[in-house]
Amino acid sequence: MADSKLIEERALVVSNEQVDKRLYFTVLESPQIAAALCPGQFVHMQIPGMPDKILRRPFSVYATDPGSGTLKILYQVVGSGTEVLSNVVAGAHSSLIGPVGNTWTPPAGARALLVGGGVGAAPLFMLAQQLSEAGSGLCVVLGAQTKDALVAYDDYCALPGVRVVAATDDGSFGHAGFCTQPAQEAMDSGEFDYVAACGPDPLIRIVAGMAADRSLPCQVSLERRMACGVGACLSCVVDTVHGKKRCCVDGPVFEASEVVWQ
Ligand SMILES: Cc1cc2nc3c(=O)[nH]c(=O)nc-3n(C[C@H](O)[C@H](O)[C@H](O)COP(=O)(O)OP(=O)(O)OC[C@H]3O[C@@H](n4cnc5c(N)ncnc54)[C@H](O)[C@@H]3O)c2cc1C
Ligand code: FES
Repeated sequence: MADSKLIEERALVVSNEQVDKRLYFTVLESPQIAAALCPGQFVHMQIPGMPDKILRRPFSVYATDPGSGTLKILYQVVGSGTEVLSNVVAGAHSSLIGPVGNTWTPPAGARALLVGGGVGAAPLFMLAQQLSEAGSGLCVVLGAQTKDALVAYDDYCALPGVRVVAATDDGSFGHAGFCTQPAQEAMDSGEFDYVAACGPDPLIRIVAGMAADRSLPCQVSLERRMACGVGACLSCVVDTVHGKKRCCVDGPVFEASEVVWQ
């Protein structure tokens, strides 16, 4: 786990903007958490206006701006909580717990390949910022169903020294098909010595397998249903070669080689 204490903070919703059919960027003013967050960590959020105030929802932090005390989340509407969240307006307040979980740990000087499918682009962006600043070579492969759903593409392209490859399932932009193909080509180029992936489990599993076949160190950020978010309830276990681990506090970032895929 990253070396940071959990903070509970009353956050102000600064904006909540729809960017595609089911995708939203929300900006929250939460100065203490924004200042403490490291790439890969997440916040456990009480959804404003949600009748069940006990069950929070976990969201990766896409970016922070410690100067303005804000953090940004990219989320997809998939069920009741995210549906309620999508209707929240600026000025509302939410209780956040964070920073939760561990962080990406690329080797120093890593030439990195990042693979993000769908909202899996979210927990990789701060890592990409960090690696871009380090300047040792970075390629980001982003996959989405359509061009319009590639909502993080421009942000990644704006990072200095980063090559961004897009793939869309419907072929409306970039490589036509799943992002596993360009990810495989990048691995085969021999240019990279570290892989990080996030997205739907089947995608992560394929990327992890390709990295293992090429003896490339690979870390993955996993999503599990979470109740407490602080390590107490065991609702989020991940099977690993070292036994069961809690996604919330032992993860969400795992060495791909330690995950026992179901
Ligand atoms: C560490 C972590 C980081 C995450 N980061 C993001 C993010 O940056 N952006 C984003 O859009 N989503 C992210 N998620 C997933 C997000 O937490 C869920 O989509 C959300 O909790 C669903 O709430 P709901 O009430 O709308 O859905 P529900 O009504 O509870 O469920 C609807 C559907 O979503 C699935 N689901 C619910 N919770 C999760 C979960 N925790 N993981 C996977 N599937 C789930 C259910 O199985 C069901 O199929 C993250 C999850 C974790 C564990
Ligand atoms: S959500 Fe309770 S232990 Fe992880």
